[in-house]
Amino acid sequence: PDTPDTPQWRPAYHFTPPAQWMNDPNGLVFHQGVYHLFYQHHPHSRVWGPMHWGHATSTDLLRWQHQPIALAPDHLGMVFSGSAVVDHGNRAGLGPPGSQPLVAAFTHHDMAAEQAGRIDRQHQGLAVSLDNGRSWVPHAGNPVLPNPGVQDFRDPKLRWLPDRQCWTMALACGDHIRFYSAPDLQTWTEDSRFGGPGIGAHGGVWECPDLFPLTSADGRARWVLLVSLTPGGPNGGSATQYFVGDFDGWRFTPDDAQIRWLDGGPDNYAGVTWSGVDDRALFIGWMSNWQYAIHVPTAPWRSAMTLPRELQLRWVDGQPRVASLPARELLALQLPATLQRQGVALGAAPLDLSPALAGSGGCWMLHLATDALRSFTLTLANEAGDQLLLGHDAGSGAWWIDRRGSGVVDFHPAFASRSHTPRLTSDAASDLQLWLDHGSVELFADGGLSVLTALCLPRQPWSRAALAAADGLVLSSLRLQPLRDPR
Ligand code: FRU
Repeated sequence: PDTPDTPQWRPAYHFTPPAQWMNDPNGLVFHQGVYHLFYQHHPHSRVWGPMHWGHATSTDLLRWQHQPIALAPDHLGMVFSGSAVVDHGNRAGLGPPGSQPLVAAFTHHDMAAEQAGRIDRQHQGLAVSLDNGRSWVPHAGNPVLPNPGVQDFRDPKLRWLPDRQCWTMALACGDHIRFYSAPDLQTWTEDSRFGGPGIGAHGGVWECPDLFPLTSADGRARWVLLVSLTPGGPNGGSATQYFVGDFDGWRFTPDDAQIRWLDGGPDNYAGVTWSGVDDRALFIGWMSNWQYAIHVPTAPWRSAMTLPRELQLRWVDGQPRVASLPARELLALQLPATLQRQGVALGAAPLDLSPALAGSGGCWMLHLATDALRSFTLTLANEAGDQLLLGHDAGSGAWWIDRRGSGVVDFHPAFASRSHTPRLTSDAASDLQLWLDHGSVELFADGGLSVLTALCLPRQPWSRAALAAADGLVLSSLRLQPLRDPR
């Protein structure tokens, strides 16, 4: 049956495909001033199916131009997740002399092998673009890394290692990551393995690794390894964990075996960073969850990406932490504040912020800061009687979002959820940024140390907002900024 379109939930400043199904971001690469975003895509359906790589480009991370489909299933199988790099100087020899090829590495998933019950169904392949990413040709020598007898063997993430003058590939292999290297992107040798029982979270299969260096503001350099996991996330279903450690070019050695989550919310999965952006770790994730992704009632598209984010390394009480903040490009969306106050004393009686929402078009950013954090609740409401609640609970030391009564929630039992994530700092001072778009809410607390990303489908736009703090809370600053629709 035809599903009626839901333009009211089409995000203004989050990426969505024009129509049909999308999952993981793929092939993130910045080249000649252009951010490329490829994505897992089924161009003929709003549910997952034969995977293609959809493609979009942007010069500012705010406005995206849809491009023709880059990669389609071929005789080797569907095109699963992977990455892309610029081969400066054509070191791998995949282009003619003097060219500067873009090279994508991805997983071919062989359905026939799966149906025959074979384990060797996932292989790594390459595709090459000689026109700056406009068109792509699968490499004639695929697969370049055939399956060694591992059922889950996928999601290659490439990185050039200047010290070794070769490429490294991080690959998800069930419950661990394998690192391979090749001087030419084609002849891969296994260097090491990381993970397995006892290291990190294992409620499901490991997917979509990403390894990159980060240096904290005080100059301490570490390597970060992102590993997505589904199911087994902190709020059920899919989520992304990370490890902080050392990488010597061959082996990743974690500083500890602790479990750390990049985002405590239900809807940030399979995220990785852009290749070709060297001065910051620029990240984007798929804003959904395998628990219910195929049921989310948006049309004609299904799924959006998270906000582009910058990942930062911080030391909190001696612990390494990866914080996420909205990419600075997003500041360009901010319109003049409709509410800006200092020294606001909150109490049990709600402070009405509704006038500041009027005319915001449903897209806004709320910022608040305090010198002494206590419990508080922000309530968003609309004319349909929906409510989205979020805030901080000092008793349990958690940031939380409750979308159980936030509108259309009944399409899957796991969607009507209350999510929470620990506050990671013991500082009295705190800050919160809340980014609202049609269909989602993203909460960044304590400078991005605690993050909650959640889909949210209200039946009417949020027209009322109120802040309350039963035990009292003084905000040093409170600001609401409508956001421009960049489309
Ligand atoms: C993660 C994932 C990847 C795989 C892709 C298939 O969401 O399962 O491991 O490559 O999606 O679409």
